[in-house]
Amino acid sequence: MIDVAVLISGGGTNLQALIDACTDETFPARIALVISNNPGVKGLERAKKAGIPTKVINHRDFSSREAFDDKLHEALVESGSGLICLAGFMRILDARFVNRWKNKILNIHPSLLPSFKGLHTQERALEAGVRFTGCTVHFVNPELDDGPIIIQAAVAINPDDDADTLAAKVLTQEHIIYPQALKLVAEGRTMVEGSRVIIRDADYVSQMVINPKPE
Ligand code: GRF
Repeated sequence: MIDVAVLISGGGTNLQALIDACTDETFPARIALVISNNPGVKGLERAKKAGIPTKVINHRDFSSREAFDDKLHEALVESGSGLICLAGFMRILDARFVNRWKNKILNIHPSLLPSFKGLHTQERALEAGVRFTGCTVHFVNPELDDGPIIIQAAVAINPDDDADTLAAKVLTQEHIIYPQALKLVAEGRTMVEGSRVIIRDADYVSQMVINPKPE
Protein backbone atom coordinates (compact mmCIF):
# COMPACT_ATOMS: atom_id res chain seq x y z
CA MET A 1 0.00 0.00 0.00
CA ILE A 2 1.46 3.33 -1.03
CA ASP A 3 0.38 6.78 0.11
CA VAL A 4 -0.42 9.17 -2.71
CA ALA A 5 -0.96 12.93 -2.80
CA VAL A 6 -3.30 14.38 -5.42
CA LEU A 7 -2.76 17.92 -6.69
CA ILE A 8 -5.75 19.75 -8.11
CA SER A 9 -6.81 23.20 -9.28
CA GLY A 10 -10.53 22.83 -9.88
CA GLY A 11 -13.50 20.49 -10.14
CA GLY A 12 -11.58 17.32 -9.43
CA THR A 13 -13.52 14.74 -11.41
CA ASN A 14 -10.28 12.81 -11.92
CA LEU A 15 -9.63 13.12 -8.19
CA GLN A 16 -13.09 11.61 -7.67
CA ALA A 17 -12.22 8.68 -9.94
CA LEU A 18 -9.09 8.07 -7.84
CA ILE A 19 -11.06 8.41 -4.57
CA ASP A 20 -13.60 5.87 -5.85
CA ALA A 21 -10.86 3.44 -6.91
CA CYS A 22 -9.23 3.69 -3.47
CA THR A 23 -12.44 2.62 -1.75
CA ASP A 24 -11.71 -0.89 -3.03
CA GLU A 25 -9.68 -2.54 -0.25
CA THR A 26 -7.53 -4.37 -2.75
CA PHE A 27 -6.46 -1.15 -4.50
CA PRO A 28 -2.72 -0.71 -3.83
CA ALA A 29 -2.80 3.04 -3.10
CA ARG A 30 -4.42 5.35 -0.57
CA ILE A 31 -4.87 9.11 -0.90
CA ALA A 32 -3.04 10.69 2.04
CA LEU A 33 -3.48 14.34 1.04
CA VAL A 34 -5.19 16.54 -1.54
CA ILE A 35 -3.55 19.88 -2.30
CA SER A 36 -5.18 22.64 -4.31
CA ASN A 37 -3.47 25.81 -5.49
CA ASN A 38 -6.93 27.43 -5.67
CA PRO A 39 -9.10 27.93 -2.59
CA GLY A 40 -12.81 27.06 -2.65
CA VAL A 41 -12.76 24.59 -5.52
CA LYS A 42 -15.11 21.63 -5.77
CA GLY A 43 -12.24 19.12 -5.67
CA LEU A 44 -11.52 20.15 -2.07
CA GLU A 45 -15.13 19.37 -1.14
CA ARG A 46 -14.86 15.96 -2.78
CA ALA A 47 -11.77 15.19 -0.69
CA LYS A 48 -13.37 16.39 2.55
CA LYS A 49 -16.46 14.32 1.86
CA ALA A 50 -14.22 11.28 1.51
CA GLY A 51 -12.45 12.11 4.79
CA ILE A 52 -9.13 12.92 3.09
CA PRO A 53 -6.91 15.66 4.56
CA THR A 54 -6.71 18.76 2.36
CA LYS A 55 -4.39 21.73 2.05
CA VAL A 56 -4.62 24.91 0.02
CA ILE A 57 -1.24 26.19 -1.13
CA ASN A 58 -2.13 29.28 -3.08
CA HIS A 59 0.55 30.11 -5.66
CA ARG A 60 -0.52 33.79 -5.47
CA ASP A 61 0.97 33.93 -1.96
CA PHE A 62 4.48 33.17 -3.21
CA SER A 63 6.94 35.49 -4.86
CA SER A 64 8.42 32.84 -7.16
CA ARG A 65 7.62 29.47 -8.72
CA GLU A 66 10.51 27.95 -6.75
CA ALA A 67 9.14 29.21 -3.41
CA PHE A 68 5.70 27.75 -4.23
CA ASP A 69 7.23 24.43 -5.28
CA ASP A 70 9.33 24.30 -2.08
CA LYS A 71 6.18 24.67 -0.01
CA LEU A 72 4.50 21.93 -2.03
CA HIS A 73 7.51 19.68 -1.52
CA GLU A 74 7.45 20.28 2.23
CA ALA A 75 3.73 19.41 2.48
CA LEU A 76 4.19 16.30 0.35
CA VAL A 77 7.09 15.00 2.42
CA GLU A 78 5.16 15.70 5.61
CA SER A 79 2.20 13.68 4.29
CA GLY A 80 4.43 10.65 3.79
CA SER A 81 3.36 10.37 0.16
CA GLY A 82 5.46 8.23 -2.15
CA LEU A 83 3.63 9.24 -5.33
CA ILE A 84 1.99 12.40 -6.65
CA CYS A 85 -0.98 12.44 -9.02
CA LEU A 86 -1.60 15.68 -10.87
CA ALA A 87 -5.34 15.78 -11.57
CA GLY A 88 -6.36 18.92 -13.39
CA PHE A 89 -3.48 20.75 -11.66
CA MET A 90 -2.94 23.87 -13.75
CA ARG A 91 0.53 24.93 -12.57
CA ILE A 92 3.84 24.19 -14.21
CA LEU A 93 6.25 22.57 -11.76
CA ASP A 94 9.87 23.67 -11.95
CA ALA A 95 12.62 21.23 -12.96
CA ARG A 96 14.12 21.13 -9.47
CA PHE A 97 10.80 19.92 -8.01
CA VAL A 98 10.24 17.40 -10.80
CA ASN A 99 13.76 15.99 -10.40
CA ARG A 100 13.24 15.55 -6.66
CA TRP A 101 10.23 13.38 -7.47
CA LYS A 102 11.65 11.69 -10.57
CA ASN A 103 9.27 9.03 -11.93
CA LYS A 104 7.02 9.55 -8.94
CA ILE A 105 4.70 12.17 -10.46
CA LEU A 106 1.82 11.09 -12.70
CA ASN A 107 -0.20 13.45 -14.85
CA ILE A 108 -3.34 13.06 -16.92
CA HIS A 109 -3.61 15.00 -20.14
CA PRO A 110 -6.67 15.15 -22.43
CA SER A 111 -4.92 14.22 -25.70
CA LEU A 112 -2.95 11.39 -27.20
CA LEU A 113 0.50 12.70 -26.35
CA PRO A 114 2.84 13.73 -27.86
CA SER A 115 0.08 15.42 -29.91
CA PHE A 116 -1.63 18.52 -28.54
CA LYS A 117 0.38 19.40 -25.46
CA GLY A 118 -0.83 22.42 -23.51
CA LEU A 119 -4.31 23.92 -23.40
CA HIS A 120 -7.40 23.81 -25.67
CA THR A 121 -6.60 20.28 -26.76
CA GLN A 122 -10.06 19.43 -28.12
CA GLU A 123 -10.37 22.61 -30.19
CA ARG A 124 -6.93 21.94 -31.65
CA ALA A 125 -7.72 18.28 -32.39
CA LEU A 126 -10.89 19.35 -34.23
CA GLU A 127 -9.01 22.07 -36.08
CA ALA A 128 -6.32 19.58 -37.15
CA GLY A 129 -8.97 17.17 -38.45
CA VAL A 130 -7.54 14.14 -36.65
CA ARG A 131 -9.91 11.15 -36.58
CA PHE A 132 -8.95 10.02 -33.09
CA THR A 133 -7.96 11.81 -29.96
CA GLY A 134 -7.95 10.63 -26.36
CA CYS A 135 -6.08 10.91 -23.12
CA THR A 136 -2.74 9.96 -21.65
CA VAL A 137 -1.42 9.19 -18.20
CA HIS A 138 2.33 9.74 -18.09
CA PHE A 139 5.21 10.24 -15.71
CA VAL A 140 6.08 13.91 -15.48
CA ASN A 141 9.39 15.27 -16.65
CA PRO A 142 10.38 18.95 -16.59
CA GLU A 143 8.91 19.64 -20.08
CA LEU A 144 5.22 20.60 -20.29
CA ASP A 145 2.93 17.57 -20.84
CA ASP A 146 5.91 15.39 -21.54
CA GLY A 147 7.35 12.21 -20.08
CA PRO A 148 7.11 8.41 -20.34
CA ILE A 149 3.60 7.24 -21.24
CA ILE A 150 1.91 4.75 -18.88
CA ILE A 151 -1.57 4.31 -20.43
CA GLN A 152 -3.56 5.95 -23.21
CA ALA A 153 -7.17 5.63 -24.31
CA ALA A 154 -8.35 6.59 -27.80
CA VAL A 155 -11.63 8.29 -28.62
CA ALA A 156 -13.05 8.48 -32.15
CA ILE A 157 -13.98 11.93 -33.42
CA ASN A 158 -17.36 12.09 -35.15
CA PRO A 159 -18.19 14.73 -37.76
CA ASP A 160 -20.77 16.28 -35.43
CA ASP A 161 -18.46 16.53 -32.40
CA ASP A 162 -17.64 19.92 -30.99
CA ALA A 163 -15.07 20.73 -28.31
CA ASP A 164 -17.61 20.11 -25.53
CA THR A 165 -18.89 16.74 -26.71
CA LEU A 166 -15.35 15.61 -27.37
CA ALA A 167 -14.11 16.80 -23.97
CA ALA A 168 -16.93 14.86 -22.30
CA LYS A 169 -16.06 11.65 -24.17
CA VAL A 170 -12.37 12.06 -23.37
CA LEU A 171 -13.12 12.79 -19.71
CA THR A 172 -15.05 9.52 -19.40
CA GLN A 173 -11.93 7.69 -20.56
CA GLU A 174 -9.71 9.75 -18.23
CA HIS A 175 -11.71 8.48 -15.28
CA ILE A 176 -11.06 4.91 -16.40
CA ILE A 177 -7.36 5.05 -17.20
CA TYR A 178 -6.12 7.22 -14.33
CA PRO A 179 -6.96 4.65 -11.63
CA GLN A 180 -5.60 1.90 -13.89
CA ALA A 181 -2.31 3.73 -14.35
CA LEU A 182 -2.01 4.47 -10.63
CA LYS A 183 -2.66 0.80 -9.90
CA LEU A 184 0.12 -0.28 -12.26
CA VAL A 185 2.60 2.15 -10.73
CA ALA A 186 1.59 1.45 -7.13
CA GLU A 187 1.98 -2.29 -7.73
CA GLY A 188 5.50 -1.68 -8.99
CA ARG A 189 4.70 -3.02 -12.46
CA THR A 190 6.10 -0.04 -14.34
CA MET A 191 9.75 0.45 -15.22
CA VAL A 192 11.02 3.56 -16.96
CA GLU A 193 13.59 2.80 -19.64
CA GLY A 194 14.76 5.93 -21.41
CA SER A 195 11.63 7.71 -22.59
CA ARG A 196 9.43 4.59 -22.43
CA VAL A 197 7.53 2.78 -19.73
CA ILE A 198 7.94 -0.96 -19.76
CA ILE A 199 5.08 -2.76 -18.04
CA ARG A 200 5.73 -6.10 -16.40
CA ASP A 201 3.09 -8.75 -16.99
CA ALA A 202 1.80 -7.96 -20.45
CA ASP A 203 -1.27 -10.24 -20.13
CA TYR A 204 -2.46 -8.30 -17.15
CA VAL A 205 -2.09 -5.07 -19.10
CA SER A 206 -3.81 -6.31 -22.24
CA GLN A 207 -6.95 -6.83 -20.16
CA MET A 208 -6.94 -3.13 -19.47
CA VAL A 209 -6.68 -1.84 -23.03
CA ILE A 210 -9.58 0.39 -23.85
CA ASN A 211 -11.27 0.25 -27.21
CA PRO A 212 -13.77 2.97 -27.88
CA LYS A 213 -17.19 1.52 -28.64
CA PRO A 214 -18.47 2.15 -32.16
CA GLU A 215 -21.48 4.47 -32.13
C1 GRF B 1 -9.28 17.14 -17.43
O1 GRF B 1 -9.49 17.03 -18.81
C2 GRF B 1 -7.82 16.97 -17.11
O2 GRF B 1 -7.18 16.08 -17.96
C3 GRF B 1 -7.34 18.36 -17.36
O3 GRF B 1 -8.30 19.15 -16.71
C4 GRF B 1 -9.58 18.57 -16.96
C5 GRF B 1 -10.47 18.67 -15.74
O4 GRF B 1 -10.09 17.74 -14.78
N1 GRF B 1 -5.95 18.53 -17.04
P1 GRF B 1 -10.80 17.51 -13.38
O5 GRF B 1 -12.29 17.37 -13.56
O6 GRF B 1 -10.50 18.70 -12.47
O7 GRF B 1 -10.19 16.24 -12.87
